[in-house]
Amino acid sequence: MAADHIQKRLTALRDEIRRHDFLYYVKDKPEISDGAYDHLFRELIELEQAHPELITADSPTQRVGAAPLSELAKVRHEQPMLSLDSILDREEVLAFDQRMKRELEETAVDYTAEPKYDGLSVELVYDRGIFVRGATRGDGMVGEDVTVNLRTIRSLPLQLAPRSGFPDHLVARGEVYMRLDDFQALNRRMTEQGEEAFANPRNAAAGSLRQLDSTITAARPLVVTCYEIMAQSGAALPTHWEELDALAAWGLPVPFLRRRCPSIEEVVAYHHETEAIRDSLPYEIDGVVVKVDQRSRQERLGFKSRSPRWAVAYKFTPRKEITVVEDIAVSVGRTGTLTPLALLRPVEVGGVTISRATLHNADEVARKDIRVGDTVKVERAGDVIPAVSERVPVPGEQRAEPFRMPDHCPVCRSAVAREGAYYYCTGQAVCGAQIKGAIEHFASKAALAIDGMGRKTVAQLVDQGLVRSLADLYKLSKPQLLDLEGFAEKSATLLLEAIERSKQVSLDRFLMGLGIRQVGQHIAKVLARELGTLAEIMAADEARFNQIREIGPEISASLASYFSEPQNRAVIQDLLGHGLRIVEEEGARGGAGSLAGKTFVFTGGLSAFTRDDAKRLVEERGARVSSSVSKKTSYIVAGQEPGSKLDQARKLGVRVLSEQEFADLIEAGP
Ligand code: IVH
Repeated sequence: MAADHIQKRLTALRDEIRRHDFLYYVKDKPEISDGAYDHLFRELIELEQAHPELITADSPTQRVGAAPLSELAKVRHEQPMLSLDSILDREEVLAFDQRMKRELEETAVDYTAEPKYDGLSVELVYDRGIFVRGATRGDGMVGEDVTVNLRTIRSLPLQLAPRSGFPDHLVARGEVYMRLDDFQALNRRMTEQGEEAFANPRNAAAGSLRQLDSTITAARPLVVTCYEIMAQSGAALPTHWEELDALAAWGLPVPFLRRRCPSIEEVVAYHHETEAIRDSLPYEIDGVVVKVDQRSRQERLGFKSRSPRWAVAYKFTPRKEITVVEDIAVSVGRTGTLTPLALLRPVEVGGVTISRATLHNADEVARKDIRVGDTVKVERAGDVIPAVSERVPVPGEQRAEPFRMPDHCPVCRSAVAREGAYYYCTGQAVCGAQIKGAIEHFASKAALAIDGMGRKTVAQLVDQGLVRSLADLYKLSKPQLLDLEGFAEKSATLLLEAIERSKQVSLDRFLMGLGIRQVGQHIAKVLARELGTLAEIMAADEARFNQIREIGPEISASLASYFSEPQNRAVIQDLLGHGLRIVEEEGARGGAGSLAGKTFVFTGGLSAFTRDDAKRLVEERGARVSSSVSKKTSYIVAGQEPGSKLDQARKLGVRVLSEQEFADLIEAGP
């Protein structure tokens, strides 16, 4: 065959195979027999083998996988991949609707509702219609490059539908999952080959996609469904519903059971109907996702730190199964709290094998009267830790003695003290479980972010007696690390470098890392913003903490009690003594504090800023944004089509700013 003939035949074969892939995997409506398809495919393979220089990345033959990698590369997402807040009942979804209406200042808001697939989220990038990159969610900012593995998924087009008007650049988001029958068949195969079965379809999907050897992924029955446009070149579509239609038109699989809901009542009905057919679906779904339909509204609502304000996961009622409590163990947490844990005869709850479940605390065990040997119901709500919900009395059963909390810590043997329903280990400074927990927390991403200081390393450091307190981290030497299992020259150097880097830390991360009860990321930020320096915080008393708007009495008490403990103050001094320095967070710039103490309210749409940008700019300058107007509001920023908040602000005599005046204020200060 002449060269251009070969090229033509290759293109024709690829187009033909793609069309049949689409009909078979996406539409579920094949037009030709499997035999006829194989025939086409074989011809393509042979032609490509004869002319390897003509193989293209989007050829259907590339779905079979490539040579194994040594590790998955990291990729930064073009847009952060957020997660969703969960809600469980009708009341919460109605409250969500109220919140949307209030924040948007609208009387009616419409939604799109879709199944919530139980798999793993992926980012899919198409350039000029060609699938060029795909990544797992990772931490939301940086994920793993699984492009080659994704190419093996048949329902994922390697090329968008020609002439469908797809954008030049498209970043879509979807879910990779496994059908239940495929999952069961895979597990059977794995067990036969002497390999361990997967606990549930989600793990099976994740394990199959995150493979270094893409030929393994190719042999696993994965599917993908797309539910979001994260970015696209050209004009955005006006609604989420139209986005889904567009994704479908471009050839991507989209949620089959989606529904447009003109009101929240419709959402509730959709949830109800979908839950009723849940068990008859060929794949796992664990709820429905409710999204404000209009993009302009989504933009006005904006995002919280980890999730959009305009969408929620409305979960189904957790499934319950019956099993037997084989034993009750007690675990010790980071702050010393003892938690009773039921060790169960393994049972599958909604596709997941469960062998342990929390019993929360001693009062709960007593109230539910759960004893070793009892028959119980266990439930699993989404990602929440499985729990024992109730005991199932069995006629004529012989029961064991009621459960009692131990007098001594199961980890360090220190005495156990009691505070209400809670029991805790008093050996704070000597208890291995607490020391490990405190160090893991200190080194975690949201705190000092010491890369490489994971659970396993912390356990080794504590068990070997190398680290007993936070400051000990800064005394570690390379020979000590090299003695640990799994450490070599390179990993030891990297870890020491990460430890060194962590010595420059912002105040809020430092506060977060101390592991003060009730002080998470948000409260740490508030403290840093309001009190400014560590000295100021260490000098504050309970009343001072209580004056801070976002800090309630419980948190104030916890802070005061933490800082009044000489042992805790010593930990801080010790850290500073080892060279730890509190620095201003990168990005906090000149304007910092220029609007300290002010409160802003926004109404209507802004043209030069998104709501989120505006909020960030305000917060960076020490002010806060509130959703409602009061006498304490310093400024109301009125954008296009302002709502009733503006009238209210005028009545209260609040200073009204145009968008331009707002921009000037941000630039130059008051
Ligand atoms: S939208 C910014 N839609 O649920 C919002 N997520 O709990 C992005 N998920 O990480 C998510 N089905 O992996 C969306 N129809 C759907 C979904 C869905 C499943 C997953 C997704 C996400 C998790 C959040």
